[in-house]
Amino acid sequence: EEKTGLKDFLHINDFDKGTILKILDRAKEVKALLKSGERTYLPFKGKTMAMIFAKPSMRTRVSFETGFYLLGGHAIFLGPNDIEMGKREETRDIARVLSRYNDIIMARLFAHQDLLDLANYASVPVINGLTDYNHPCQIMADALTMIEHIGQIEGTKVVYVGDGNNIVHSWLLLAAVIPFHFVCVCPKGYEPDAKTIEIAQQAGVSKIEITHDPKEAVKGADVVYSDVWASMGQKQEAEQRRKDFQGFQVDEELMKIAGPQAFFMHCLPAERGVEVTNGVIEAPNSIVFPQAENRMHAQNAVMLHSLGL
Ligand code: CP
Ligand code: NVA
Repeated sequence: EEKTGLKDFLHINDFDKGTILKILDRAKEVKALLKSGERTYLPFKGKTMAMIFAKPSMRTRVSFETGFYLLGGHAIFLGPNDIEMGKREETRDIARVLSRYNDIIMARLFAHQDLLDLANYASVPVINGLTDYNHPCQIMADALTMIEHIGQIEGTKVVYVGDGNNIVHSWLLLAAVIPFHFVCVCPKGYEPDAKTIEIAQQAGVSKIEITHDPKEAVKGADVVYSDVWASMGQKQEAEQRRKDFQGFQVDEELMKIAGPQAFFMHCLPAERGVEVTNGVIEAPNSIVFPQAENRMHAQNAVMLHSLGL
């Protein structure tokens, strides 16, 4: 369907640098407004959002629902048992029916292709709330958090320690747009998608490294970032992965090697004592909670952009 004046938000690199930075600026502006207690800015008034969840969620569900409501709109939660995408009903039918009731659709799905199909058949903007492939709203929140704590993304060094998963793909796609130094340090066999690495490298914007020695990688990092070793849909591999990821825990020693300038970030939920120690999450340079808070502010700005508001 043609979406005049409306835009899906599926991958960071669907947008140019100017647009990403403009959305982040808007996020800062609307965040300040909401934090001041102001409740008269209601750009989503009279609008509804359908939120499809094929997987569990805390941050994504609550931040989208709360954010949309605070700006005047109404959000509808559809859990795995409500929609049963591709099982009870085909994606192309869901897309066209939901578009007739709602102004915007947010979806958290397994297969990325399902999200692309949903966006293709919907006549309203579709926002990616995480797929097996990527998680762009998370990386927008992370970028906003870096701007607040470091002042910028450009020129920084971000070292992701762990599994080359959906979070890494979104970091790589951000690195295709904004110049910084991105390192994914992972066990052999757990590298991110080769095509996505290529997209990031061929953009020629950032320095991209995929390496296997955490102690070497984190030196001089502005951000050390971690995520679970077994993502949603991989929990049956958790035991094997714990073995394969030995040496990849972010602990106090690794943060010390990184240096005093290094912030710790994690998209959450975290398995304390597995991919990260308790001490690192609770340390003064851990910014995981401001980061989680920024999900709402980043997404509010994404939705304003998607709706042309
Ligand atoms: N970071 C994140 O997306 O959290 P949830 O899975 O709780 O939504
Ligand atoms: N990589 C994790 C991120 C959760 C927000 C997962 O997909 O489960």
